[in-house]
Amino acid sequence: MMKTSFSLRKFIQSSSNISLPLKFLKLESQHFYTSQAASPAYSQVCSDDDYADIDWDTIGFGLTPTDYMYVTKTSQQDDGFTEGQLKRYGNIELSPSAGVLNYGQGLFEGMKAIRREDGQIVLFRPDENALRMKVGAERMCMPSPTTTQFIDAVKQTTLANKRWIPPPGKGSLYMRPMLLGTGPILGLGPAPEYMFLVYASPVRNYFKEGSAPLSLNVEQEFDRASRGGTGGIKTISNYGPALRPLVRAKSKGFSDVLYLDSVDRKYVEEVSSCNIFMVKGNTISTPSIKGTILPGVTRKSIIEIARDLGYNVEERPVPVEELLEADEVFGTGTAVGVAPVGNITHHSRRVEYRTDDNSVSKRLLSTYMAIQNGLVEDKKGWIVELS
Ligand code: COI
Repeated sequence: MMKTSFSLRKFIQSSSNISLPLKFLKLESQHFYTSQAASPAYSQVCSDDDYADIDWDTIGFGLTPTDYMYVTKTSQQDDGFTEGQLKRYGNIELSPSAGVLNYGQGLFEGMKAIRREDGQIVLFRPDENALRMKVGAERMCMPSPTTTQFIDAVKQTTLANKRWIPPPGKGSLYMRPMLLGTGPILGLGPAPEYMFLVYASPVRNYFKEGSAPLSLNVEQEFDRASRGGTGGIKTISNYGPALRPLVRAKSKGFSDVLYLDSVDRKYVEEVSSCNIFMVKGNTISTPSIKGTILPGVTRKSIIEIARDLGYNVEERPVPVEELLEADEVFGTGTAVGVAPVGNITHHSRRVEYRTDDNSVSKRLLSTYMAIQNGLVEDKKGWIVELS
């Protein structure tokens, strides 16, 4: 089992060259710090164990600015990313000709830090996100942080923002690592300088429906990804084009859009925000990863969990007609977790699915959450403990 102990004390020690006015006080063996740079709303003395002063019962998936972000840079002359720094969370300065602004040379990741009942803070499979960023960076001609650098940056950002990690059972701290082509470039080419940045926001349910079943519309006009394109990596440029179909679907009352393959519009690919699974009898099927589908960390984990629970899991092309005949459908993703789908509309046909308490998706979700919350043993080394 991969086990990591990482304390706030270590973060403070390693951040002695921190580039912001951080006043660190030691009081009766407890650590306190105040930031003179903080905005009035967030300016407060707080101990390592305090919570931020927000209503934890009303957070959704909106951005709640936290205290710190991690930043490091590299340029063509450098040999990879140097050790980064924690800075106050805030705007970054970019050249108008930055590669990321002009040519979309950027990647992001999504991860969650969870606070368990016993106070332990954990990350779930951060090595998988580090690897996915590396693969994406190769496709986008970008240098990438090493797995160690990536995980260390996420750990530091998590612990620096510890007071923003929701109480057990009330959500998680969503971590957003980003790799950006920040150097100026006018002609099309890789940027001369890159930034690796991690910020965080407390979140709970991704959809406004909460944990209620989703309503999906099968997209007929727009495609998410094409053969030989970038659908299989988490580049920022995959998400902008998904906005128009998403806004249109939401305006018609749907939760999200389900995309089909761009060649025949016959096979299911994924939802804008998550991977898709269908259940028929004891068999669970999900579209195979073939370059147009994002290799989700939750997808991969749910496949393993389902197999361990005795389901037959198939990764294969899934015709939309077959999806419409399924018993159950659910989505998986870091942000959405395991989300039951209540209905899907394809052209004018609307199909309803099983979503009761004995559904397969509920069983998978509760096992997945039990591993994250330490209620069942992590036999796979998926959990990284931070404190
Ligand atoms: C995630 O699940 O972490 C994502 O990045 C999806 C995004 C649409 C919020």
